[in-house]
Amino acid sequence: MPLPQHVKLVEVGPRDGLQNEKSPVATATKIALIERLGAAGLPAIEATAFVSPKWVPQMADNAEVLRGIARRPGVAYPVLVPNLQGFDAALEAGASEVAIFAAASESFSKKNTNCSISESLKRFEPILSAASALEIPVRGYVSCVVGCPYEGDIAPEAVAPLAKALFDMGCYEVSLGDTIGVGTPGAISRMLDATLRQLPAGKLAGHYHDTYGMAIANIHASLQLGVAVFDTSVAGLGGCPYAPGASGNVATEDVVYLLHGLGINTGIDLPALAATGDWISQQLGRANASRTGRALAAKSACA
Ligand code: HMG
Ligand code: MG
Repeated sequence: MPLPQHVKLVEVGPRDGLQNEKSPVATATKIALIERLGAAGLPAIEATAFVSPKWVPQMADNAEVLRGIARRPGVAYPVLVPNLQGFDAALEAGASEVAIFAAASESFSKKNTNCSISESLKRFEPILSAASALEIPVRGYVSCVVGCPYEGDIAPEAVAPLAKALFDMGCYEVSLGDTIGVGTPGAISRMLDATLRQLPAGKLAGHYHDTYGMAIANIHASLQLGVAVFDTSVAGLGGCPYAPGASGNVATEDVVYLLHGLGINTGIDLPALAATGDWISQQLGRANASRTGRALAAKSACA
């Protein structure tokens, strides 16, 4: 299959990236990050999560963040919602797109959202019917698509029906999460092969954490199966508080460098993105986890 000519990146740094930060991140810093990412050409930026602040304190300023962003035309700012309470709060704060999240592992579902997989689908029903009535697009996530921190390997057969169920309920796209970044191109391709029997590639996205450094290879494997949407995190920020030891998503800068090198258009300004990655790393007092970001910073320091 020829590689796609255009790939869409969904920037998840402000949500997936920051949700696991131990020290509080100022609301103004979150807003500035989202605005800088929009200026660098990201077409979709997951801004925050309307989850319980007891479960994820870092997202407690969700409404202030969403209200504070100067929105750019043509950029989507989806927010995570776990239940109808979160959906209502997100709408109240001005959300125009939401994302719901399920898991292919019973143990992770319980740890992350305090319910079984089937209970999570029941929870999503009222969200999807309210969203449909209001014409709010809903994106779906399946977590633990190849491995679970509590159960180990996850069979592709556990992923495909759940992805299909989310799509059939009304999600316009289903993002497949390697939550703990254990996947290799073989495992990811087997999972995608099974899922592609139920849904076309155009309805799927890859959301690969980079714990074992395999995420770029996994994206390359996914491109060859026709997937053309990937979730990424500037400077490789992040991790899930309920997936101990997992690192952040694959760095947006690294994926843009890969895609542009393959002649695939993203619409993203790599130098502006890399400057944003450096800036947020400094704000958080952590090393920039993007190899491309570090290489570009070293190059400009030598110039
Ligand atoms: P629960 O404790 O079972 O909820 O948590 P509950 O319905 O029994 O309510 C308990 C309390 O929480 C009540 O407050 C509710 O009002 C409140 P109290 O009466 O005790 O004061 N509450 C809420 N508050 C604000 N917003 C809400 C909300 N819902 C209830 N939406 C719940 C169940 C789902 C709420 C909880 O487990 C939760 O918030 N989980 C979210 C965990 C999370 O955010 N994880 C990280 C995101 S997922 C991820 O990172 C994976 C992903 O990146 C893909 C991948 O990598 O694979 C997407
Ligand atoms: Mg994630």
